[in-house]
Order: sequence, then C-alpha cells, then structure tokens
Amino acid sequence: MFVPALLILLVGLIIYYVRRSHTYWRRHGVTEIYPIHPIFGNARETFLCNESIYEFFLRIYSIFKAKRVRYGGIYTFTARALVIIDPELIKDIMQTSFDHFEDRAGYINEEREPLTAHLVNLKGAKWKSMRHRLTPTFTSGKMKMMFQTFVYCISGLKGMIEGYARNKESVDIKDVLARFTTDIIGNCAFGIECNSMKDPSSEFRVYGKKVFDRNFWQNAKITMTRFVPKSVINALGIYVTNQEVAQFFTRMITSTIEYREKNNIARRDFLDMLLQLKNHGQLKNDDGVFEQTGVDGSLTLNQIAAQCFVFFLAGFETSSTAMTFALYELSRNQVVQDKLRQEINRVLRKHDGEITYEAVQEMTYLENVIYESMRKFPPVPAVPRTCTKTYRVPNSNVVIEKGKMVNIPIAGLHWDPDYFPDSEKFDPDRFTEEIKATRPHYAYLPFGGGPRNCIGLRFGMLQSKVGVATIIRNFRLTLNSKTEHPLRYETGSFITSVKGDVWLDVERV
Ligand code: HEM
Repeated sequence: MFVPALLILLVGLIIYYVRRSHTYWRRHGVTEIYPIHPIFGNARETFLCNESIYEFFLRIYSIFKAKRVRYGGIYTFTARALVIIDPELIKDIMQTSFDHFEDRAGYINEEREPLTAHLVNLKGAKWKSMRHRLTPTFTSGKMKMMFQTFVYCISGLKGMIEGYARNKESVDIKDVLARFTTDIIGNCAFGIECNSMKDPSSEFRVYGKKVFDRNFWQNAKITMTRFVPKSVINALGIYVTNQEVAQFFTRMITSTIEYREKNNIARRDFLDMLLQLKNHGQLKNDDGVFEQTGVDGSLTLNQIAAQCFVFFLAGFETSSTAMTFALYELSRNQVVQDKLRQEINRVLRKHDGEITYEAVQEMTYLENVIYESMRKFPPVPAVPRTCTKTYRVPNSNVVIEKGKMVNIPIAGLHWDPDYFPDSEKFDPDRFTEEIKATRPHYAYLPFGGGPRNCIGLRFGMLQSKVGVATIIRNFRLTLNSKTEHPLRYETGSFITSVKGDVWLDVERV
C-alpha cells in the first residue's frame, strides 16, 4: 500500500512540476508559443530531428513578430528561454549589458573531456582570459601572414573544378567546398596538409564529417548535460564529444606539437601562435618581437588542443556552408554573377592577375554577395546567452534570473521584411553603406554581436571570399536540375546546411 501511494505521489509531483514549469511565461505576462509538449516543451521537432534549427528559429520569430512583441517565451523540456525579437533589446543584451549575459550554455568537463574546454564553451573569468590571449591571433596582420596557405589551397580548388568542367560533369559544390575549407583550416590551425581535396577519404575529412554527426542520442546527451549534474554524467560514463573524433584530434595535435618542439620548427599558423603563448605567455608581433598580452600564465597542452579543436569545429563548416549558399544563389542569378565576375577581373588587373590579400580587400561587391547569402542562410541560425547576473528587461516587469537563457534568433531577423524588404530576393545591394544605414545594426548578425561575437570573423570572411572569387573568376555556374528545389535543411545540426547535395554545372569562362 505504501509503495503504490508513494509512486502516485511521485508521478503527481512530476506532473505538477512540469505543468508549473510550462506555465511560467504565461504567469509572468510573457507571450508564449503553443502547443507546449508535456515532455519536449516547444523543441519536440528539433529534438527528434524533424525540423532544422534554422527553420525552428524562422518559425518562432515569425510567430512572435506577428504578435508584435519585443520578446517571447519558449520551453525546451522544462527549461525556459526568452527569444528576443527587438534589435534594440538584442543590442542591450549582447553589448550594453554584456556583464549580465557573458556566457553561452556549452557543457565543459575539463577532466574527462579536455576538448570541451574551448573558447565557445568557456565561461566567466576563464573565457575572458582565453579570449584576451587568442584575440591577437586573429588580427588582420596575422590573416595576411597566413594568406599564403590560402593561395596554396586555391590551386587545388581550381584544379578540382577544372576537371569537372573539362569532362562536362556537374559538381557537388557542397562537398568540394567542405574539402577546400577542411584543407585551409587544417593547414592554418594545425599546419597539416590534410589533402582532403585530393583524397575525399583523408582522415581529416572523415573526422571533420563525424564532428557534426548529430542524431537523437547525441541530442539526448547534450540535453542531459543541461539537467543532470556532472557527477551523474561521469558515473553513467557518458561522453558528449565523439570519442573517436576526440582521440584523433588529441593524437594529431600532440604529435604535431612534439615534432615541432623537438625539431625547432616555426610555421606561419595558429598552432605556432598557440605554442608561443604556451612557451612564453606572449605572442610575437608583426615584426617578430614578443609582446605583452596583459594576461598572466601560459597555455597548457590541453588548452591548446581544445582551442585547435574549436578552430576546426567553428571554422570549416561555417565557411563552407556560407560559400555553398553563395554559389547556389549566384548560379540562379546570372546578372549578379556577371557583375561579380566583372569586379573580380577589374580588381585583379590592378594586381597582376594574382589573388592577393590586398586584392580581396578591394572586392566590395564580393563582400556584399557573401553578406547577402549569409543574410538568407546564416550559417549559425541563432545564438544563446546565459544570464550571469539578474536582469530586468528595460520598460517591463520581466526579470531574467541568473542561470536562465535567452536566444537571439538570427535567421528570423534576417528574413524580417521590416529590415529586408522582399526578403526572398537575393540582392547584394542591400549591403551598400547607404542601405545598411537605414536598418538597425542588430538586425543583421551572421557573426553574432558584442564582446562574445565570432573571433574568427576575419578568417571566415577571407576564406569565403577567396573561394568564391577563385571559382567565379574561372567558371560560369548554372544550377543543375539534380539539386532539390526548394532546398531542405539538415536537421540535428546547429549549423544551417543543405540536406543532400548541391549540384552545379560549370563551364570555363
Ligand atoms: C563564415 C564563417 C563563420 C560564421 C558565419 C561564424 C559565426 C559565428 C557566430 C554566430 C558565433 C557566435 C557569436 C555570438 O555568440 O555572438 C561564432 C563564435 C565563434 N566563432 Fe565563428 N563563424 C565563422 C567562422 C569562424 C572561424 C573561421 C573561426 C576560427 C578559425 C571561428 C571561431 C569562432 C569561435 C572560437 C567562436 C566563439 C567566440 C567566443 O565565445 O568568444 N568562427 N561564430
């Protein structure tokens, strides 16, 4: 009698707790979204991999926008988050009141999974110190220093597409570009020739693909880290990082470091800069002289491995997906493609026909083409912030407590006709200085915003520009009918990516 009564009481308490959690926003006068699933909250379709995160945030944003609210409440399981719609409020959260929203929600387990302690996940003082040390590795001077590696990879890219053009075969551009950025990041972050353009089954490409393999079980593990204490996760023997991938990266980074240190090898890449920080706590400036970073303490081997890992994680798929969408749009918009080719040729004539760092900086239309494709298809469709200090939403009674989340729905903002009229249209001229000045700054956020924005922005833009310029300069692109229309998007991945292949026909110009 006692046990069944206890069970009934327990079930009753759970139902009460879930109900109570799922009425939080309503009770606090905040608009929320129905239906609220008793288990998944609003996240059922994304959790079950039926809807991409990109489509989820487009949908959520348009519901709140239609209700004319500045923010709205959603639930992921029983956890609540505020989705911010108003760009002024977004600016306050990301920039002005940054000290209230310093963290994301990433899971870190330094002892068992050292690769999780990377810049994207780090929190509080540890994040600040690491960001401070890594920022000088991404200056325009350092990008210029690494440009030679980009040029090296350009010839591989051009050669590969040349082959398809010669044989009159269509190209799976998504795959080609993923191999291109894998090689660039592999070279720049680890100083390793990954050869994935020559060999699609190279280890780097294989593990690079595995990093982004997300399925129901992977989602379940990540969700669990939000609700279950770390000691329980450890006791259950759960790892969030794919262990095969983690072992590959750790082995590769450790052996490269050992080799470099033993043979006193210096290279012009990120790893070299991280080793300078490890051994000297300082970084060489553009004249090769060590400079104070203002942060004490050098980097450990584990810290270096984690940062290299995140450069790979955050650096290759974001840029390759940005380029894939840009080329997809260019293949459907011949007028824009011709205009872009004219700019590329005009600028290159001034630079002896060479794609140099300076030449790429002069290609403003190219920049606008990439901005516009990231407008329609932001590689990162939303960014989270965790409240680190209780915050009252200005001009309201709503209080966000420490530990609670807000989401910035980048994809939704980018498709809002108030900021981007006729939003379906691919129009790079939306990014001329005059037109940019007519919309709120925080309505366009492909690289996030505030002190926690993308540290690799310059690198990402540079490799995307170099890739698109190389292809458009040499080839005319048209969309092959094998490409599914309308596009569908990968579910399970937190990056906006086309489901299946993107087939283009290529012809030498
Ligand atoms: C087109 C390419 C890229 C896009 C669209 C992109 C986008 C983003 C976005 C939206 C964020 C979150 C910002 C926020 O929360 O406000 C981010 C963070 C980050 N990105 Fe990128 N990214 C790109 C390329 C890169 C590259 C090439 C690297 C490194 C080599 C990189 C490294 C990072 C890191 C380490 C963070 C975390 C920064 C921090 O928390 O301090 N990204 N990126």
